[in-house]
This record gives sequence, C-alpha cells and structure tokens, in this order.
Amino acid sequence: MKTKLLIFGVTGDLSRRKLLPALQAILKTDQFDDLEIIGISRRQITAGDVLDGAVTEKLSSKFSPFTMDVANEDDYRRLKDSLELNGDGQVLAYLSVPPGASSQIIELLGKTGINTPNVKLLLEKPFGMDYTSAVEMNERISQYFDETHVYRIDHYLAKEMAQNIVAFRRSNALFSHVWNNQAIEKIEVVASETLGLEGRNDFYEQTGALRDVLQGHLMQLLSLVLLDLPEDFSWQNVSALRRRALEQLQLATVENACRAQYRGYAEEAGNPGSLTETFASVTLYSDAPQWQNVSFVLATGKALDKKTTEIRIHFRKFHEAQGNVLALRIQPDEAVEMEFFAKKPGYENQLETRKLAFTYDADTTLPDAYEHVIVDAIRSRKSLFPSSEEILASWKVLQPILDAWQMDDTLPAMYEPGSATHSICRA
Ligand code: BG6
Repeated sequence: MKTKLLIFGVTGDLSRRKLLPALQAILKTDQFDDLEIIGISRRQITAGDVLDGAVTEKLSSKFSPFTMDVANEDDYRRLKDSLELNGDGQVLAYLSVPPGASSQIIELLGKTGINTPNVKLLLEKPFGMDYTSAVEMNERISQYFDETHVYRIDHYLAKEMAQNIVAFRRSNALFSHVWNNQAIEKIEVVASETLGLEGRNDFYEQTGALRDVLQGHLMQLLSLVLLDLPEDFSWQNVSALRRRALEQLQLATVENACRAQYRGYAEEAGNPGSLTETFASVTLYSDAPQWQNVSFVLATGKALDKKTTEIRIHFRKFHEAQGNVLALRIQPDEAVEMEFFAKKPGYENQLETRKLAFTYDADTTLPDAYEHVIVDAIRSRKSLFPSSEEILASWKVLQPILDAWQMDDTLPAMYEPGSATHSICRA
C-alpha cells in the first residue's frame, strides 16, 4: 500500500541516530518501494543533511522535505493539501519531538483534518510524566484519533530478543513447566548504560532514570516475562496479556526503591544541587497467584560500567549447594544462557559454574528495533506497541515512588561514573 511517512522532528537526535538509519535498512530490502518519507522541519533539508552525508541513494530519492512551523494551523492545511488524504494510500504521522510539543501537534493535526481513517499516529515516549498527565495525554489523543490508529512506541518491546521472550516461553516445554513461583524466586530486569547525558540536559533533568527507562522499557520487559500464556495464544492479544500482567502488580513502595546520581552529573546538567536520579531501582511484587512471593527487581542507570540489558531469572534452591540462573540477554550479544553447576573435571569433587547458551550465528543480522516498529506500523500490526491502558497501569504502579521522591529534597546517593550496577544502592 502506498505509504507517506511524515516525520515531525526530522532534524532531531532520534531521527539521525535511529529513524533514518532504520528507514535506510527497510528500503534496502526492496519490499517497501511504495514508501515516501516527508521530513518536516522549519528549513529546507535533505536526508543527507540529517545523516551527515551517510545516506543511500534510495533514501535520498524517497525523501522530500516539507517546511512548516508546527505551531501554525495554516501550515497544517498546506500539509493536508499535499497529502491526498482521500486516496487509497495511508499516512503515518510520526512525532519525534521534545516532550511537551506533541500535544499541540496532535491537536493541530486533528483540527485541520489530518486524522482521517487512513492516518496513523506514531508517538514517541514520554507518554506523560506521571499517572495524571498520562491520563490527560490519552484524553487529548482520543479527542482526535481512534485508539486503533495510535501507535505508541516503546522500542524495547521491538528488540529481537524481547520478542523472543514470549516465543521462547511458549515453544519450549521445559520452561513452560517452571515458569511460576514454585520454581522461581526472583526476577531481575536490568538495563545499564555507559553513556551519560549526551547533551540532553533539559530533557533528562525533568525526566530522570525512573521515568526515562524504568517506567516504560523495563516495565514492558517485565510484563513479557510475567504474562499468562493461554493455550490459544495469539500475537494479536499480546498487548491485553501484557496489560493484565502490569495491572496485577502491587503498587510500589518507596522503601523498596532507591535513587542515585553519578558524581559530576549536576555540573554537567548545569544544575548544582540537582535531585534528578541517573540510577533507579525498585523491587515489585505481583498479586497474580502464580507469582506470589516472587520479587521483581528493576534497575537502570547511566554512566555505568557497561551497556547491557538483561533479564535474570533466579530459580529456587532445593538445598544450599544449588543455584541456577536463566539469563535472557536483550542486548548486546543477544543470548539465552542457563548458568548451572557441573563437576570440575579431575580427581576432586569440586564444582564449577558453566553455561548452556543460545546465541545467534556470527553472520546473523538482527533488525534494529526501529525497523520492526516502522514495518509493523506500516502493516497495521499492533502487538509491539503498548496500549494506553498498559501505559497507565505502569504509571499507577510507580506513582507512589514519584510522589515520595518529589516530596524528598535530600540529595540522592552518589556513585562514581563507571560503577557496576550491583554496587549502587546497597546501603
Ligand atoms: C531511550 C532513553 O528511550 O532509550 C535513553 O530515552 C536511553 O535515555 C535509550 O539511552 C536506550 O536505548 P537503547 O536501545 O540504546 O538501549
């Protein structure tokens, strides 16, 4: 189907680092020759301007700029006239804009009629700053767009290994049998990053680690681990299953949460005395019968010792000399690894830890999460996109921490850049 992809915020960081490279990869497959990309910005630009010249001929030929002021209603009318909304193609409006800017764009798209049934709205996070603002944002969106046409992007759900969590649980009897509190005692979901602020000062100062990564990315990964897998499972229903898993979580308590900041952050952010956390962790519990008494530890931070996202499933021990961990490595070096004990070869009765591992062959290229997101939005497949209810359920669980931290003006604990995740918040 003929698709016009409008990118609001095409000159921004996300577009340069993720979107345009993903589009470049998609176009290379020759399966999307009907795709046209319209880069919206205040000034006349080419794809090459955004990608600093690292642009393929194909992307260049598919890219056209549209200059407009996104606050000006007349400019939307001009945009509408250029789109032929009555044809049989579709339009994807992708909002890759700073927080706060999307509301107005959604409203102007709606008011000027760029919300016909063949228009899809693709939104980047943050979806609100807390529960209340997320409700308001949903109301604003639903004023102009039907939920079936709204695609909220959480690119962690679209990572190849995240998609594998359900595939792996569903297709391997061994794991289906032990996926409950009889066998599992703790689940960790950890995303550590080596990078710091990277110039996103204003955004990060208002956001912090809990909102930026934990509330969306980590909660979504957790929901994939916890969701119930009915016999008649279908990918079309996976969002409803994720939602149920999130709604079954108990509200977080501030006693089970911790925030910290890397040394030097406040100066870098230009805000001495900043209370913004660059590391956040929280332990959660579920009311679902199969997860009673299992703890879920979520942690994320910037300026840490390594870039990795991993889910670690800790199995209960029958006696002290045991310990099995199943690690689902989301990135990098995507893998599923089972850590287990084996007898050390030799005359002594000693044990050593070994791994059973699944990794991809070295020559396998995994599609980037943004390629999945764009392809699925074009094809109207919604399973990789969190629904408004999932977003609200996640905010609701974490709201007690947000409230408590907002009232607390003591400085977060400090950690040295390059610290290991497990060394932080261990007081
Ligand atoms: C984004 C956050 O959503 O995810 C960033 O805003 C973070 O702060 C990024 O760095 C991490 O994504 P990835 O795919 O590089 O792990």
